[in-house]
Amino acid sequence: MTIKILAISGSLRKASSNTALLRAAKQLAPEGVEIEIYEALGQLPHYDQDLEGDVPANVVELRQRIAEADGVLIATPEYNYSVPGVLKNALDWASRPYGESVLTGKPVAIMGASGSAFGTVRAQNHLRAVFHFLDSKLVGKPEVQVGNNWERFDNDGNLVDETARNLVAGLVAALVVVIDDVQKAKVAA
Ligand SMILES: Cc1cc2nc3c(=O)[nH]c(=O)nc-3n(C[C@H](O)[C@H](O)[C@H](O)COP(=O)(O)O)c2cc1C
Repeated sequence: MTIKILAISGSLRKASSNTALLRAAKQLAPEGVEIEIYEALGQLPHYDQDLEGDVPANVVELRQRIAEADGVLIATPEYNYSVPGVLKNALDWASRPYGESVLTGKPVAIMGASGSAFGTVRAQNHLRAVFHFLDSKLVGKPEVQVGNNWERFDNDGNLVDETARNLVAGLVAALVVVIDDVQKAKVAA
């Protein structure tokens, strides 16, 4: 059976190194693992609790796609030491209704690329807190912090750094282990 992973990049720009990391994950995924990149982050409305009674169609679609995925893989940039607003906005939408979030119990892995040497470590720590609160099944290791991102990709946006490629492949493999565990626990329940 195919394992389906929904991949979300926290950057909207076309030449995003984080979206490029997700493309690398897609290429490096083992057989039987399908990674689909979510492309509608920029179209989501700002989170507004008044809309919860009549949720916008693209939010319904986001929630549905997360619900249907076996796991979620996020690549986040770091903006001002934290998570970009567009990504946090999507997670806030996916976090509701309270107590019924599609992210609760969902296997999640995070990685990131940034221009600094720290490779999004601060943003990832903030993101980990969000998933901790939502009781997602967050992969701990490997930590994939791709610093000095301009050195890691070629002009076509291919991840060429061997260490980073191995880490991305390792993160996908670790996510698959968590997905397997969650699925086995469901069968046993
Ligand atoms: C608004 C803004 C804030 C940023 N803040 C940080 C930061 O706190 N730490 C960091 O390492 N890079 C920071 N950067 C630089 C990003 O790491 C760099 O632009 C990166 O390439 C963004 O990811 P992307 O290639 O996926 O778009 C910032 C960039 C922007 C536009």
